[in-house]
Amino acid sequence: MCGIFAYTGKKSAEEVLLDGLESLEYRGYDSAGIYIPEAGVIKTPGAVSELREKIPANFKGHSGIAHLRWATHGEPNEKNAHPHSGCTDDIWIVHNGIIENFKELKEKLEKAGHTFKTDTDTEVLAHLIEYHLQKERDFEKSVLAALNEVRGTYGIAVQYKEKPEMLIAARMGSPLVLGIGEDERFIASDASPILPHTKKVVFLEDGEVAIITPMEHKILKLDATQVKRAPEEIEWNAEKAQKNGYEHFMLKEIMEAQEVIKNTLRGRLIADKGMAKLGGLESVAKKLEDIERIIIVACGTAYYAALVGEYMLEEYAGIPVEVELGSEFRYRSPVLNQRTALIGISQSGETLDTLEAIREGKRRGALTLGIVNTVGSTIARETDAGVYNHAGPEIGVASTKAFISQLTALALFTIFFGRQRHMSKETGREIADALLELPEKIRSILERNERIKELAEKYANYRDFLFIGRKYNYPISFEGALKLKEVSYVHAEGCGAGEMKHGPIAMIDENFPTIAIATQDSVYEKMKSNIEEIKARKGPIIAVVNDGDTEIPKLVDDVMFVPKTLEMLSPILNVIPLQLFAYYFARKKGLNVDRPRNLAKSVTVE
Ligand code: AGP
Ligand code: GLU
Repeated sequence: MCGIFAYTGKKSAEEVLLDGLESLEYRGYDSAGIYIPEAGVIKTPGAVSELREKIPANFKGHSGIAHLRWATHGEPNEKNAHPHSGCTDDIWIVHNGIIENFKELKEKLEKAGHTFKTDTDTEVLAHLIEYHLQKERDFEKSVLAALNEVRGTYGIAVQYKEKPEMLIAARMGSPLVLGIGEDERFIASDASPILPHTKKVVFLEDGEVAIITPMEHKILKLDATQVKRAPEEIEWNAEKAQKNGYEHFMLKEIMEAQEVIKNTLRGRLIADKGMAKLGGLESVAKKLEDIERIIIVACGTAYYAALVGEYMLEEYAGIPVEVELGSEFRYRSPVLNQRTALIGISQSGETLDTLEAIREGKRRGALTLGIVNTVGSTIARETDAGVYNHAGPEIGVASTKAFISQLTALALFTIFFGRQRHMSKETGREIADALLELPEKIRSILERNERIKELAEKYANYRDFLFIGRKYNYPISFEGALKLKEVSYVHAEGCGAGEMKHGPIAMIDENFPTIAIATQDSVYEKMKSNIEEIKARKGPIIAVVNDGDTEIPKLVDDVMFVPKTLEMLSPILNVIPLQLFAYYFARKKGLNVDRPRNLAKSVTVE
């Protein structure tokens, strides 16, 4: 995701836009840019401060569009920074999202004589509007015609040099807010840059297009039918607007899980063929056919995602997998060769322990792949190939939506590697179909967050927690424990449920609750026995169970229900109640949930 801000009215647009962009910097800022019809376009790598330095005194006007980029297609550099134009520089656009069919559209436009200047997917939109403008000679109709050819997600603001006071905005999957002032109008990714000017807003909905001038606006659907929507007055301050109304970024990011899965999967599943299409692996696809072993290196939450990936890849792709902590791998004497693939998983793409492990793997001849959220980050650049999560910037120090995306990406890797080997089309389709059902299943979990809040508050006075799970949910016991300890500072440890009897169960008594992940899978009966063992020692038990389970709820003190899915995908659903539990537990204790003590979002030290 990125930050969009557009203005038309009586004020100095450059001042309004640059000030407004600053409140959007939390949404990503690998590069920035601004277009003002009377003044031209200025772009820069970096954030608003770098953009300000490049703005000359005479860069003036009363309308414009501005952008802070979180790159998805095309390196973060000046060339790829938004705004983007077509061939004639009459049409300028800023975009938040991913144009899924940009390659097909680009081919069509190149055949029509268009030449492209950047590596982004966004540029195709400017050319497509220009293409229709040359036929329709009408700005509004051209934007509508172009958007009806697009697949993917967008939040856009478009300007046409011949109509400088008009803005056209459109939303499909990426948020947009219309601000209504006195003889002035605003468009932004969230309300934060609008609030200093007006509290009167309209939240655009998916499939809507807003035609905006300083004095009026109208909202259309993509078929040009008009939409009537009364403005609302919001009483948020800028910080609350950045969190989309949530109290903390952590909660906002947990609540984004549905969109994150859709964005991670976007354009990467050919469900009817049971295939995964991973553009970032195309350059090494042939080499990957000969890979005989996979090592995954990561740290923290990414390491627990890797442990789930181990189960997926071994069960469904038949490849031996080892998972290593970045901080340990680099000090071992690992035995690798050209038939080893080393995968680095990292949200920030800058974790030094993971980066150095990847470098060690490269030195020893392994083919290195990345699963990274931050485009253009060091790990993304130093690995031989890889995929981006497209999860959008993760602000909360506790990693939540990135973890969901990492598990989803590993499921795509499993289909990719599996179908290169012996995975049947039917199995590929089964996994693909189950992946596509996840967003709806996640919605049903998130709707129950009040119940999880009550539970977290009920247990808020305990100081010790054991998390237990088996097989695919063994790593989730550790991730659940990590979430709780890092935001609430209590003692919480993960444990393979089968391992309890080898020591940890000695800790259990009425003051030591256990959170058991016991969804109905191949180890359900074993988990039931482990719960009985804990019950016999009077330990309080909260269980994560599937909707409709009537057995385990009778055995435990409290339950958190989740829908069923494929066993290999169950960690994606089962972790969400644990993320919410950790969040509400820490919130109840009044702690700084987004910035826990002693921690950093990206650990670039050894
Ligand atoms: C997880 O909640 C923590 N913030 C931390 O363990 C994190 O996952 C770890 O530092 C790895 O970060 P990365 O994904 O950016 O490499
Ligand atoms: N996909 C576009 C790009 O990579 C927009 C990314 C964003 O949302 O900032 O430039």
